[in-house]
Amino acid sequence: MILIVLLIEMVEVSVEDGLQPNTHFLHAKDGHTYYLNKVVKGGRLSLECMFYRRKGRPCRGRASVGANGLDFKLKKIHNHAPDHNLIHQRRLRSAILLRCRSGDPSMLRVIYDEERRRLKTPRVAAANIPFVTLRPAMQRARQSTLPRIPKTLTDLDVILRDDKYCFLTKTLDGQDCIYAGATGNEAEKTRCLIFMSERMLKYLARVKTIFSDATFCVVPTDLNGAQVWNLVTLRRHTTIGIGSIIMQSKSTECYRAAIKGIKHLLPSFNPQTIMCDYESSQQKAWALEFPNAERYGCLFHASKAILKKAKEKGLIPYIENNQHVDLAVRCLCALPLLPRNCIVDGLLQVSEAAFRKGLWSVMESLFKYVFKTWLSASRLPIFSVYECKDRTTNCCESYNYSLQTEVKTTHPNIFALISALVRLEDNTVQLLHVLSPGGNPRRKRKASVLVNDSRIRGLSEDLNEGNITRYKFLRQASRRMQGLYNDMLGPLKDN
Ligand SMILES: *[C@@H]1O[C@H](CO)[C@@H](O)[C@H](O)[C@H]1NC(C)=O
Ligand SMILES: *[C@@H]1O[C@H](CO)[C@@H](O)[C@H](O)[C@H]1NC(C)=O
Ligand SMILES: *[C@@H]1O[C@H](CO)[C@@H](O)[C@H](O)[C@H]1NC(C)=O
Ligand SMILES: [Zn+2]
Repeated sequence: MILIVLLIEMVEVSVEDGLQPNTHFLHAKDGHTYYLNKVVKGGRLSLECMFYRRKGRPCRGRASVGANGLDFKLKKIHNHAPDHNLIHQRRLRSAILLRCRSGDPSMLRVIYDEERRRLKTPRVAAANIPFVTLRPAMQRARQSTLPRIPKTLTDLDVILRDDKYCFLTKTLDGQDCIYAGATGNEAEKTRCLIFMSERMLKYLARVKTIFSDATFCVVPTDLNGAQVWNLVTLRRHTTIGIGSIIMQSKSTECYRAAIKGIKHLLPSFNPQTIMCDYESSQQKAWALEFPNAERYGCLFHASKAILKKAKEKGLIPYIENNQHVDLAVRCLCALPLLPRNCIVDGLLQVSEAAFRKGLWSVMESLFKYVFKTWLSASRLPIFSVYECKDRTTNCCESYNYSLQTEVKTTHPNIFALISALVRLEDNTVQLLHVLSPGGNPRRKRKASVLVNDSRIRGLSEDLNEGNITRYKFLRQASRRMQGLYNDMLGPLKDN
């Protein structure tokens, strides 16, 4: 095997996997393909033609090459023409079969064409192994390696802990594994399977702010999982996916089981700031497991809910045609920008202004909704995002989008979901290298976003020093989140 390692580096000879495990073809620059015969004195490698032992008309072609891969010499001539395409055929064939074995759910035809294009296989070479010829081998590769589809999370856990199937969760560089284990139990509907590589777990130990969100469309239909819960963080404004948990239910207890599982894997896990949407079981679980962490909802989710309610109350035409209604609704969406202890008063000032403009009858029910729903005992403490570096869980949306893109279909088969998670982990590890100290930040933020951010901070200072009223703060700060407001309002106007 040491030889093989040496050979990989070779320049006049390149190595491809053979058809049998642990065999290798050596493609030489002369267009012939050889097997390694033996190592001769002085370290040179003696090669024999791949047809050396062919029945019928064997070829006695022989060659040798230095251990450094240079100085290729033909020793005995071949009885057939060279074939410069063979190397491309072999390469294409092994890339395609490898992808079939990986559990990639794409159609076989798509895999064939994508690999052919990726490897830039010459047309003549690919024509020698057309799709129809390769299809049976592709089907075998796909079926031979995957276990039967599990019906429960416990079944899946048993499969994933089996050495035979460790290839399913091994990271793409082979150095880690993304399956961290199971917690909770089926009877209580709190079973959770945690997908988080050890290196991401290590990274999590340093993470101060964590974002979380659940998604349903990637959950396999025939598994007893209710949702996939993603943990995400931001580094230099770039989304970093930490890991995903397949959860049996959406109950508080199930969320707690998931969090406890992570605590068990990483006893030092202690986020200082937690941000997620307003789903109460999720918020409650975080609160119970980390009572000292700062918890926040998401400005985006809150504003969106308020605007949806405005639509329900028939206010969209008013928003479009009456600038005072538009202003009042915009201020309501900006309420989370106020410090927690100013929010009730902020709402009061917005409604007083609306009253003075004669809009009370139009807007009364929306004000009441905001008061009852968002200023309630459980929501108010997490409503404000004042002084948060990031005010939304948009990074979760972007992670969800990447996951969806990798999975390709909704409700994929479980092995396709796992292989998507493996690829995402690889992307994340790569990204962390790019973002490592001294590396280039990947994403430049738009100047207008930066300016608006700093204006909101300035307004907060004015507010603190008592230079402006809460209403004036809301009027001006809400202008600075006009982009978000327009994005949310647009689709509501259309239908
Ligand atoms: C995740 O993305 C999919 C597709 O892009 C979308 O349908 C779904 O609503 C998203 N889920 C969440 C929780 O954002
Ligand atoms: C607030 O007002 C005072 C006096 O009018 C002024 O000196 C101070 O700079 C103002 N603060 C801010 C943050 O603008
Ligand atoms: C930033 O503020 C300006 C002025 O209020 C506004 O026009 C613009 O839409 C804001 N940008 C974003 C991204 O919200
Ligand atoms: Zn030969």
